[in-house]
Amino acid sequence: MATPAQALSGVTPEALPTPSLLVDRARLARNIDRMRTRLATLGVPLRPHVKTAKCAEITRLMLAGQPGGVTVSTLAEAHDCLDHGITDILYAVGIVPAKLDAVAALVADGAHVTVLLDAPATARDVASRAAALGLELPVMIEIDSDGHRAGLRPDDPALVEAGRILDAGPGTRLAGVLTHAGDSYQCRSASALEAMAERERVCVVGAAARLREAGLRCPHVSVGSTPTALYATRLDGVTEVRAGVYVFMDLVMAGIGVCSVDDIALSVLTSVIGHQHERGRMFVDAGWMALSRDRGTADQPIDQGYGLLRAPDGGPTPDAPDALVVTATSQEHGIVTARDGAAVDLSRWPVGSRLRVLPNHACATAAQHAGYALLDERGRVETYWPRRGGW
Ligand SMILES: Cc1ncc(COP(=O)(O)O)c(C=O)c1O
Repeated sequence: MATPAQALSGVTPEALPTPSLLVDRARLARNIDRMRTRLATLGVPLRPHVKTAKCAEITRLMLAGQPGGVTVSTLAEAHDCLDHGITDILYAVGIVPAKLDAVAALVADGAHVTVLLDAPATARDVASRAAALGLELPVMIEIDSDGHRAGLRPDDPALVEAGRILDAGPGTRLAGVLTHAGDSYQCRSASALEAMAERERVCVVGAAARLREAGLRCPHVSVGSTPTALYATRLDGVTEVRAGVYVFMDLVMAGIGVCSVDDIALSVLTSVIGHQHERGRMFVDAGWMALSRDRGTADQPIDQGYGLLRAPDGGPTPDAPDALVVTATSQEHGIVTARDGAAVDLSRWPVGSRLRVLPNHACATAAQHAGYALLDERGRVETYWPRRGGW
């Protein structure tokens, strides 16, 4: 039986089933190049986050010209990277001792895995379990630079306490400090993004300084989110940047101003499956199963519902500019309405015609699918790339 890649290569998107997840090769390459160029200017390497694409072929493109290490959000991603010859793996979600057997298995298979935690008690438990497993595990301490999520504030006494526990070994060693300014997604201007990037840098560089003042080695200083990576004006003291969603970009990034709608490389190909003339709206076969329930643009100046409609070639539809939006979803239905409440011109979109939906949050939409149909510069399907889901 033909693999999906063999079966799909060379066909036009009209031959694809719907819903299908599409990636535009040219936009993907542009996004990767933009991040590479930006960080080269700032003189700091990229440790790409593979959680957005979860796809070995895309990881390889993200790694071009970089030292070769990746960031993962699941152990499944770590296994997939190792299966594809990538050994330097930072698992950037708080570790618990029960996961260390799985980490030890990765290490036994040749991976160099670094883990993350943010409390002395966890450091103690992880050190003890890691020692029992015969590991000398590099551990990063997570720093809270913006009140967004996990991490220790740089001035928290627990920082040095956790550092001392990790440094004492034998199961662990202190690899450094890491922060993720997730609140950058709330920024609404270039100056706010620049300020957020600087705050992210100052917090984590300050945390590293405190550890070093306490006599501890702190070799790695890791920052990153797509908005801060692209808007940082200096990265002194930082040793690596992590970024993930830049690879596809999405409507949330466009709403922040980090990219334009035309930069978005990911879309869901969908078919019109019905009309409701009296309400001036239509249905497509991309519901929340194909788009996700993410409503990340809901509190942005332009609310894109569950996704913005594009013509089958990826360009704007002939309706009023950016007028068509998926405003409601059920499992396999998307309800498409005009943003301004006007009736959709249903004559333009007969049942069976096709559209594309741009995602609010690329990570969430991609997670609904088993893989990507990659489109070449002429809009033909070049190949199929599988994703590695699960945990
Ligand atoms: C720890 C960590 N680092 C880096 C990133 C990458 O952020 P972005 O997807 O904005 O590039 C994330 C995203 O959630 C993250 O959780």
